[in-house]
Amino acid sequence: MVDNEKLEVRESTRIERIGAHSHIRGLGLDDVLEARLVSQGMVGQKDARRAAGIVVQMVREGKIAGRCILLAGEPSTGKTAIAVGMAQALGTETPFTSMSGSEIYSLEMSKTEALAQALRKSIGVRIKEETEIIEGEVVEIQIDRPATGTGQKIGKVTLKTTEMETNYDLGNKIIECFMKEKIQAGDIITIDKASGKVSKLGRSFTRSRDYDATGAQTRFVQCPEGELQKRKEVVHTVTLHEIDVINSRTHGFLALFSGDTGEIKQEVRDQINSKVSEWREEGKAEINPGVLFIDEAHMLDIECFSYLNRALEQDMAPVVIMATNRGITKIRGTNYQSPHGIPIDLLDRMIIIRTVPYSPEEMKEILKIRCEEEDCQMQPEAMIVLSRLATQTSLRYAIQLITTANLVSRRRKSPEIQVEDVKKVYNLFLDEERSSRFLKEHQDEYMFSEIESGAAMEIN
Ligand SMILES: Nc1ncnc2c1ncn2[C@@H]1O[C@H](COP(=O)(O)OP(=O)(O)OP(=O)(O)O)[C@@H](O)[C@H]1O
Ligand SMILES: [Mg+2]
Repeated sequence: MVDNEKLEVRESTRIERIGAHSHIRGLGLDDVLEARLVSQGMVGQKDARRAAGIVVQMVREGKIAGRCILLAGEPSTGKTAIAVGMAQALGTETPFTSMSGSEIYSLEMSKTEALAQALRKSIGVRIKEETEIIEGEVVEIQIDRPATGTGQKIGKVTLKTTEMETNYDLGNKIIECFMKEKIQAGDIITIDKASGKVSKLGRSFTRSRDYDATGAQTRFVQCPEGELQKRKEVVHTVTLHEIDVINSRTHGFLALFSGDTGEIKQEVRDQINSKVSEWREEGKAEINPGVLFIDEAHMLDIECFSYLNRALEQDMAPVVIMATNRGITKIRGTNYQSPHGIPIDLLDRMIIIRTVPYSPEEMKEILKIRCEEEDCQMQPEAMIVLSRLATQTSLRYAIQLITTANLVSRRRKSPEIQVEDVKKVYNLFLDEERSSRFLKEHQDEYMFSEIESGAAMEIN
């Protein structure tokens, strides 16, 4: 028994991995939504962060739905990072779905179905339910086990509030719950009448002097007042997509765990929509429009864009945030060019947040944060070299060098990364520019080189 408990504790320690954006803990804004220079892992990019903060505020207040926001800017200017920050600022209560534009090309479902599911994953429904509970202080508890060791147990419990006291007979299932929770006289408990779930709220204040042996973590609570039976409102939050999956007969709720939901029929969705509107009118449910974030939005094609145009105008729509680093380019699926590869009519419905390239100081600050995140010690001189590299090559490349330089320095048994480590990995791993320069110089040694046709064109 004791061993089991120990095992459980061990299992619950989580290993946190370091990802590209794991240093981002929010948008780093103050109370008036002004961006602090460095906060919550975020550096610089003040205007975009402030704008993102206003969007977060509006989403939180539930004021806007069906709006579309575009994060546009050069590569590695923090668009994805800002979206991660927004998700964290919104917290777990508001649904935030994140996808890449290219995900719609999965073979399992049509593009518009993939978008429909993503949109519905981003809309929360808060369903209110009233349940009856019994809440009181345990005066006495008595559980009789049969002498043979097997068979039905019989139990009785006496519960009281400040005003009344009642005896209850306990069924076999509830007895199990009582034993699991180790309920004893002096505990304040609640019993959910529908599910039979027993939970311990703490120990009664009147018992606080009874035992010396109560642990420091024991919570003392007042004996409840009034009636023993109470009505309590519980709120469940689910997404429209979850309701869809549970109600589509072919898949059932197990599909929620495997993620293999397949296509969902339009009739199912229509039914759910009308049911949810009914609940809203009766005051049983509230809609909580969240956020759908589509990264690399230029990967969507014309069908998707026109689907989104329409979907955003519907009654229940989330806020859609897109990000792209493209300039004027072809809209996928057409021969027309458009800014960001997004049709003008959709752009017209969007508000655009621009991200701008970082100054050398900002890059240095980001690199410092990444060093902390990866638990690396870096000599100040090495940091200067690395941030110079970031301005000459790219921020992403410099971030990658931290991990590798750290490994190299550890091989030397050095406690911190020094200039020589950074130099070494800079020579070991090429950045994009050096690699393409090398390719240009050595093109004829590679397979399928296209230098001839390119050169010919230049001569003509
Ligand atoms: N303002 C910032 N504060 C802290 N870290 C940042 C900031 N901006 C970017 N980063 C980090 O720099 C790296 C590159 O940024 P990110 O991936 O967000 O760029 P992006 O704009 O999405 O680029 P792309 O257009 O190529 O997708 C990431 O590791 C990100 O976490
Ligand atoms: Mg990105």
